[in-house]
Amino acid sequence: MAEPTSISLARGAPSLDIIAVEELRRAAERAFERDPAGAFAYGTSAGHPRLLAWLAEKHGVEPERLVATNGSMQADSFLFHELVRPGDVVVVEAPTYDRTLLTLRKLSAELLAIPLEADGIDVGALARALEAGARPKLAHIIPNFQNPAGCTLSLAKRERLLELARDYGFTIFEDDPYVELRFEGEQHPTMLELDRDGSVVYASSFSKTVCPGVRVGYLVGPPDVIADVRKQGTETYISPNMMAQAVVAEFCESGAVERSIATVKAALRERRDATCAALDRHLPDARYVSPQGGYFLWVDLPEGSDVLALERAALERGVLFVKGSDFLLEGGESSMRLAYSAVPPDQIEAGIARVAEAYRQLVGAAA
Ligand SMILES: Cc1ncc(COP(=O)(O)O)c(C=O)c1O
Repeated sequence: MAEPTSISLARGAPSLDIIAVEELRRAAERAFERDPAGAFAYGTSAGHPRLLAWLAEKHGVEPERLVATNGSMQADSFLFHELVRPGDVVVVEAPTYDRTLLTLRKLSAELLAIPLEADGIDVGALARALEAGARPKLAHIIPNFQNPAGCTLSLAKRERLLELARDYGFTIFEDDPYVELRFEGEQHPTMLELDRDGSVVYASSFSKTVCPGVRVGYLVGPPDVIADVRKQGTETYISPNMMAQAVVAEFCESGAVERSIATVKAALRERRDATCAALDRHLPDARYVSPQGGYFLWVDLPEGSDVLALERAALERGVLFVKGSDFLLEGGESSMRLAYSAVPPDQIEAGIARVAEAYRQLVGAAA
């Protein structure tokens, strides 16, 4: 019997068909012809000047508040190394991006995990922890289409978080790579835009709007924090990848980025719809909040479900997803993250049907 086709609902990455390959080729040609020295020489650790100018305009900030890095992952890492010392308390969402947990653990941070609700972090629980004496240095927040939960922070909660940051003197790290990928509902202002006290450092990325292989991300923050991050950049790599940033600058200035975002959003909406429809059809035990954008959907199965066993059984059927416990310090054993970004709708349907078959078999065996 032929092996079933492998279907990955695990990778938080776009499929090649929604990447603007031809427009990127043309942007690279123009960038290299127009300003070869800007693309081919060392730059400074601040990043490519044309990209910084475009970002400064987009965010309405002075260029010295910006640093462009090799992917936002590197920006995150620089920032954490700058601000977090062993024993420092850092607020994380529960669940949250697994790489954030890994980096913060390596830095021996003390993690204060605050649960997520359908409209983002439980600010009441955070306020109670602060009133009870917690003194975080930093709160890591993924405000839009959260990885892994898919939820979005409400406007009221954004404002409350800023109040708490001001009153208790911590920095909000607004990690926002999915912000441009809203395909329905109302867009909220970023906490960076709402901030009046210099409490926010903001990160975003071109991985989801251009392509992940280009490895271009950035931070916006107070000039002193950005100056320290730039210094780390100089010491680490002299300058980030100038060829990549020159191409992204050209891609953005020419308006190709807007077309790329429109393509990506249309595909993601279709894939989100296919995921929800397949869950409703094949796995009625699944509980989830339908995301209004982004890549991910979080599924809770009935308490006591063994998602580790389900992961293995699904893998035998050629389907991958990430188990919920990977995104938490504790718990998550009956949950999973489904990424619909990398898979066309027909494969999503087939993949979820196979997960559901594996689930029924496990439930049957346990009965
Ligand atoms: C919340 C979050 N932050 C940061 C990153 C890193 O993105 P980049 O490709 O820009 O390094 C990701 C990637 O999936 C992410 O989900």
